Amino acid sequence: MSIAPGTSPVGLDESTLKQYVADELERVRDRSFGLTTQVLDESELLAQHSRLMSPLVWDLAHVGNYEELWLLREAARIEAMRPELDDIYDAFEHPRATRPTLPLLRPDEADDYIGLVRRKVLDALDTIRIEGSGDELLDAGFVFGMVLQHEHQHDETMLATHQLRRGEPVFPVADALPAPGALITSAEVLVPAGPFTMGTSTDAWALDNERPAHQVDLPAYAVDTVPVSNAAYRAFVEAGGYDDERLWAEAGWRWRCESGKRGPAFWFRDGGSWLRRRFGRVEPLPDDEPVQHVNWYEADAYARWAGRRLPTEAEWEKAASWDPATRTKRRFPWGDEAPTDRHANLGQHRYHPVASGSFPDGAAPSGALQMVGDVWEWTATELTGYPGFRSFPYREYSEVFFDDGYRVLRGGSWATDPLACRTTFRNWDFPIRRQIFSGFRTARDA
Ligand code: AVJ
Ligand code: FE
Repeated sequence: MSIAPGTSPVGLDESTLKQYVADELERVRDRSFGLTTQVLDESELLAQHSRLMSPLVWDLAHVGNYEELWLLREAARIEAMRPELDDIYDAFEHPRATRPTLPLLRPDEADDYIGLVRRKVLDALDTIRIEGSGDELLDAGFVFGMVLQHEHQHDETMLATHQLRRGEPVFPVADALPAPGALITSAEVLVPAGPFTMGTSTDAWALDNERPAHQVDLPAYAVDTVPVSNAAYRAFVEAGGYDDERLWAEAGWRWRCESGKRGPAFWFRDGGSWLRRRFGRVEPLPDDEPVQHVNWYEADAYARWAGRRLPTEAEWEKAASWDPATRTKRRFPWGDEAPTDRHANLGQHRYHPVASGSFPDGAAPSGALQMVGDVWEWTATELTGYPGFRSFPYREYSEVFFDDGYRVLRGGSWATDPLACRTTFRNWDFPIRRQIFSGFRTARDA
């Protein structure tokens, strides 16, 4: 029996854990190839489709280089295969805009390199001792979990690059599966005052910024049952929301004026109706889907227009994960069970969010729906470390981004893999960014 993606590694015996890791390494690599060499030719893989993004072949070789660094050099103590590559694929040495000028591996070379790394990793996985190694990096296979999540994160980034790319569509039009719909009985859910546990100290593959678990006491608040839909957001656009300075944060209004934007990215007005471009195809804007490709300033302005505000990060996590009846925290809104197609729109099974109000079986104890999957949700909170934060295993995963104006996004999108998603997972971006699969829900004090 293979282990469902997104299952916690805690409590798996050593051989089951190794099999889980090996299966997941194969699955994520298939995904990466499906976004690169299987769908685009060499020139498109080397091209920069947007200055906001890397050439796709940079991401592909970068995930292999990261795997070499952490699994071969750090975990297995094998010496560097291609030390000259480290600089090229170091995200901190070269900002995305400059990556096309680097001496990048060509697609076939990148394929050879990451394939060789992978064969050595699978050999090392056979012989490495995880249980009782006394090495924090290896405990419960943490470093393997980190590398798997890293590749999935880059796959989602590659999907954002695909969305910006012009050219023949490469992804399927039709969905494999319809999403089950829920009866929405109220527009918002009320979360009573009281403490809850934020973050985790026990989820073995949680990343450093999700730790440690700590108590947070919140006053009562209400949060939208579902993410804000295209129809709701369109009402804000059509009511002149982009022309009303009073609705915008000061820096948000500056962004609005300098950019000249009048609606979410990829929206177009066609006479009286609205269209959107999605992976190279133009289609009517679906009213009931959560709005996506809005930045933090747009989400903030909409919330003010609606007489509400964005939830804080703590409010988001409590509404998504806290069961007040048992005073326990859930890894996913519905419980600790790994995500399935009954629970959430995750894992790139579709190339879009599904109607706000889908997945009754994915509801949180608070009654909120779609807290996980569909769209990343902007929160009011700036990224910082939790009390007692300790950088592990390297400062550049998250600590260097603390207190630097990044806003936290929660919950994952349709493009997020179950392995890289849980109620404690934290994502972040600059408040002007909207090429990511970002939406939001609103909240108010109660
Ligand atoms: C956590 C999604 C913001 O993509 O910049 C990838 C993840 N870290 N490589 C990013 C990441 C290193 C990161 N985010
Ligand atoms: Fe990376």
